[in-house]
Amino acid sequence: MHDAARPVPHEPHRDPVAILMDCDTGIDDALALLYLCSQPHVELVAVTSTPGNVDADHVAANNLALLQLCGRGDVPVAIGARSPLEIPLVTTPETHGPQGIGYAELPLARRAPEPCDAVEIWIEAARARPGELTALVTAPLTNFALALRAEPRLPELLGGVVIMGGAYFYQGNTTPTAEWNTHVDPHAAAEVFAAFAGQPEERLPTVCALETTERIEMHPEHLAALAEVAGCSEPELVLPEQPEGLRSRASNRLVRQVSDMLRFYFEFHRHYDQGYVAHVHDYFAASVAAGTARYAARTATVHVETHAPRLMGTTVADYRGLWDEPANARIVSENHPDEAFAELVSSLGSLAHRVD
Ligand code: RIB
Ligand code: CA
Repeated sequence: MHDAARPVPHEPHRDPVAILMDCDTGIDDALALLYLCSQPHVELVAVTSTPGNVDADHVAANNLALLQLCGRGDVPVAIGARSPLEIPLVTTPETHGPQGIGYAELPLARRAPEPCDAVEIWIEAARARPGELTALVTAPLTNFALALRAEPRLPELLGGVVIMGGAYFYQGNTTPTAEWNTHVDPHAAAEVFAAFAGQPEERLPTVCALETTERIEMHPEHLAALAEVAGCSEPELVLPEQPEGLRSRASNRLVRQVSDMLRFYFEFHRHYDQGYVAHVHDYFAASVAAGTARYAARTATVHVETHAPRLMGTTVADYRGLWDEPANARIVSENHPDEAFAELVSSLGSLAHRVD
C-alpha cells in the first residue's frame, strides 16, 4: 500500500510577488483581478485572455475595463488562443452574462489589447525573469498549454504556478464529474499536467479545485461589508427578495460595478438550487498566488480525461501512488472561508475607496 500524501500547510504572507494572470473574465475572474490590483506587494506583470466564460475579445475588453477602473492602464492585456486546442469553444452566458460581467456596464477602455500574442508575453517575461514569476490561471488552460508547447522549459523558468481547475473526488459543476475550466479545454489541461510530471514538489502547480473553491461562498452580507469599508453613503443591499436585474445605486463607482456583477452571480447560483450565493473560485486562487491565503495542499498525480465522451474534462487525483506515476500537482485540501472573506472585504473595500 502507498502512504497517502500528507497535507502541507501554507501560512499567509505579503512577500513581494510578480504575477502573470491568465483568465476568462467572468465575474469571479473580475474579483480575482481587482483583488490583485488591491495588493501593494503584488506586481501584476500582464493579464492574458483565454476564451471560456465568454469569447476572447470580451475577456480582453473586460480585463482592460477593469484595469482602467483601478487606474492600472500600465498593465498589458493580450489575447492568445480564440478556441480550445481540439474541441469547439463553449461559453456560459447564463453563468456570467452575455458580456461576462453580469449586469455591470463597465466604462469602455481607452486602450486596446497588445498587438502581440499572449503566448509571446508569457515566454518573454519568463525568460527575462527566470524563477521570479508566478503564473495564475483562472481559465481553461489553452494559453498555458500553447506557451508550454512554445517553451517546454516553462516549468523551470516560472517561479510558481497556481491553477483554478478540476474537481477531485467531488462532483463537477459542468458535467456530473467535470469542472468548467478543465471541461472547456480538456486537451490543454492534460498537456499542462503532463508538462509538470516529475518536477520537484516546490515547482508543481498549486491547484485550487471545486472541493475547496466552493467553500469560498460569497453572500450578500460580504458585499454589504465591502461597501461599508469603501465608505458608501448607504448600505449596499442585494437581497433575494428584490426583483432580478436591479441595478446598484451605490455612491462608490467600483462598488456599483462589483454589486451589479455579483447580483447576476447570486441569481445564477439560485437558479441552479445552490442558494442566493456566489462561489468566487478565482478570488481564492488569486489569494493563493498573492500569498495571502492560509491553506494546505497535497501532492498528487492528476489525470484529465480526453477520450470518454461522458467523462471529457473529468479530473482524477492519485494521492497514493497507485498508478506509480510521478506527481504533477499540489492540490489544495484545506482553506479558511472566514479568513478569505475578511481579506477580500478589507482589500476590495479599501481599493474601491482609493480609486473612487
Ligand atoms: O469552475 C469555476 C471556474 O470556471 C472559474 O474559473 C469560473 O470563472 C469559470 O471560469
Ligand atoms: Ca475563470
